[in-house]
Formats: sequence, structure tokens, C-alpha cells
Amino acid sequence: MDAIDVILTKREGGKLTPEQIDWVIDAYTRGAVAEEQMSSLAMAILLNGMTREEVARWTEAMIRSGERMEWSGLDRPTTDKHSTGGVGDKITLPLAPLVAACGAAVPQLSGRGLGHTGGTLDKLESIPGWRASLEPDGMLDVLRRTGAVICAAGSGLAPADRKLYALRDVTGTVESIPLIASSIMSKKIAEGTGALVLDVKVGSGAFMKTTASARELAETMVGIGVDHGVRTVALLTAMDRPLGRAVGNALEVAESVQVLAGGGPPDVVELTLTLAREMLAAAGLSDRDPADALRDGSAMDVWRRMISAQGGDPDASLPVARESHVVTAPAAGVLTRLDAYGVGVAAWRLGAGRARKEDPVSFGAGVVCHAVPGDEVAAGQPLLTLYADDDTRFARALESLDGAIEVEPGGTPDLLPLVIDRI
Ligand code: URA
Repeated sequence: MDAIDVILTKREGGKLTPEQIDWVIDAYTRGAVAEEQMSSLAMAILLNGMTREEVARWTEAMIRSGERMEWSGLDRPTTDKHSTGGVGDKITLPLAPLVAACGAAVPQLSGRGLGHTGGTLDKLESIPGWRASLEPDGMLDVLRRTGAVICAAGSGLAPADRKLYALRDVTGTVESIPLIASSIMSKKIAEGTGALVLDVKVGSGAFMKTTASARELAETMVGIGVDHGVRTVALLTAMDRPLGRAVGNALEVAESVQVLAGGGPPDVVELTLTLAREMLAAAGLSDRDPADALRDGSAMDVWRRMISAQGGDPDASLPVARESHVVTAPAAGVLTRLDAYGVGVAAWRLGAGRARKEDPVSFGAGVVCHAVPGDEVAAGQPLLTLYADDDTRFARALESLDGAIEVEPGGTPDLLPLVIDRI
């Protein structure tokens, strides 16, 4: 077998055999298939697609490229959530301790932000002392002690995906449904969770801009999960406007703590509770009501223990940006549009995100929304506060908000429902 043979099969629209898939993933991981050959194959897959059998085998081969974690020693069922990423999507932060407080174990391997979408690890690292790296034994220890652990994936987990994702990022081959689905699911299955809830975001601030493409991605991922014995459910949820009011690392931690304290923006609370119910049902714990764990403070207790177990101080003050700039309403009327992508790019340019993987983030940078679509606003009323450590960043951030905000007298926003569908 050689790489040219595999590339030509897919270039001509053929179906890759299980042997071809196993060989190419293994050889690529070992360095025996060159980056330019894998790049060519990824482009052929992006253009010609893969069948369900091909995606299942591709995912399996990526899982087998590394270690698979195992949690059978725990006395509770494991359940996890994965979001395809969005603007202001801090849901993992209140969700993991909430679900743990209801009796499940949540072993969550998370990522960092790239581009305009934020990453859970960057948000948590804004808490003084908190560490993202844990060895598998350390992960088990935190999980046993607190019920929830959020940390970075070690280099041994799906190394084929690690290499391939970096290659796709620079070769225009990220936006392939089979490649996205196998990338996400290989990591989640290797993580060893028994149940998985996928939050597939739809709208300008998401990877998937339309409900139809999000549905196709969700169905592909649910199929892979089920084929691997993981109880998997997907929700399609709105990402046409930011989630909640805070966008940016420390700003989102503060909003998550408000949710755990029984407050917080209604959309963040509703999505957290909806996903918690799905995670608990998938773990066989549908008799628990997560709203009780928010009310009685038990979710907050788990949060505090989970943060302390990874070196963080849950009582420490969070970093605050040095500079701020207020954006006001251009006219009186109803805020009919607050575009997720525009706000996400603004937060990114303010320093909340990074342009290259190795760049540092500014923990205090970001955007706070004082109004949400549907609110009546007065002319000159503050709509957003932008935060940055360096005031030269405001001009570029403001450019990305051009066209992202609309206020219309008597207008009605045309918004996606928060939860669009369940698959
Ligand atoms: N997230 C992943 O982990 N992989 C992708 O391909 C896209 C998003």
C-alpha cells in the first residue's frame, strides 16, 4: 500500500477500504506519510466526502493511534459534553460541577480558543493558580475527590488527530463534516466517557452557519458515538448572538460563578440546565433535578473543590483589563441585531483570543453586553463595554462591530430559538 494509491482512490470519488484507512492513519502518525500527501488526501475528502463506514473506520484508526482512558474504577457513571464552539460559550464551567453535584462523574478534556471562539482552558487559567495539565492518575484523583475534572488532553490521546488538525488548519481543510466529526469524536471516545451530549452551535458565531449543515454534523457524530457504544445525543443550539452577556476569559468565569450562585443571564441558565438534564439522562440519572443543585449550593461546592484541586483559588480576584471603551446605542428603538461573529472577533482583537497557537491571551480582555436582542434602548445608552490591556486595540475591535449592531424603532429581532432541535 502507498499514499498515492489512497489519495487517488478518494480523488476519483471512490470509497476507501478499511485497510487503506488503517494504513494511512498509522503511517501518517509515524511520519511515513508526508504532510503534503495527507494534505492532498484531506482536500480529496473535503471535496468528495466519506460514507458512514469510512467515517467510523477513520475515527477508530485515530483512536487507536494513541491511548484510551478508562474509568471503570469509579463508583458513578461518566458523562460529558462537547460544544462545537461559539462566542460567550462558557457553559462547561457551571455545567461540569452541576452534573457532578447530581451524582455523575464528568471527565472533561478541553481545548484552547483559536480564532474568534473561546476555549475552556483559557477561561479557567484566568483563575489565579489553576493548572490545566494533569497526568491520567491526577485526573482520576480529582474526579474521585470532586466528581468533575476539566483539563488539557495529554499528547498520548489521539495523536493522529493532533497532527491532522494542525495540518487542516493551514491547508483550508477544516470545514469537512467527516473530518470535523471524526476529529471531535476520536478525542471524546478516547477520553473514555460512557455518555456524551454534543452541543452543536448554529449561526454566524459557529463553525456551522446553517441548521442543515449543523444537523448533518450532529447526525454524523451521533452515529459515530453510537457505533462505539457511547450513549450520544446532540442538541442544535443558537449561536447567532453571543451566549450570555460576557465574552472573554475572566469575564466569562465571573458570569459562570453567578450562574452557580443561582443568578446569571437567563439563556446561560437555561442552556446549562437543559444540557445537564441531557447528560444525566444519558448517564441513567434522569431522576435528579439539576435546578435543585443550583438552588441548594451543592453545584457551587463542587466548583470550589474542583478549582482548588487543580491549584486554583476560588476566592481570588479575577484579572481585570486596564482599559475600557463604551459603545452606545446609535438611536432609540429595539436592539434587533447583536451579531455573534462581530462580537467574537471584537473580543479576539481586544486580546481575549490568540492569532497563533503559541500566543498568550489577555485574561481580562473581552466584551460585556449591557443589552441583548429584543431589549428596548435609548439613544446614547451604553450597549457594550470593551475591555483591553492596551487602548490601541479598540480601533480594530470597533471595526469588527461595523454592521454587527442594529437598533430599529418598533423592530423585532429575528433570532434562532435557543434550542433548535435534538438528535
Ligand atoms: N474541533 C475539533 O476538535 N476538531 C475539528 O475538526 C473541529 C473542531
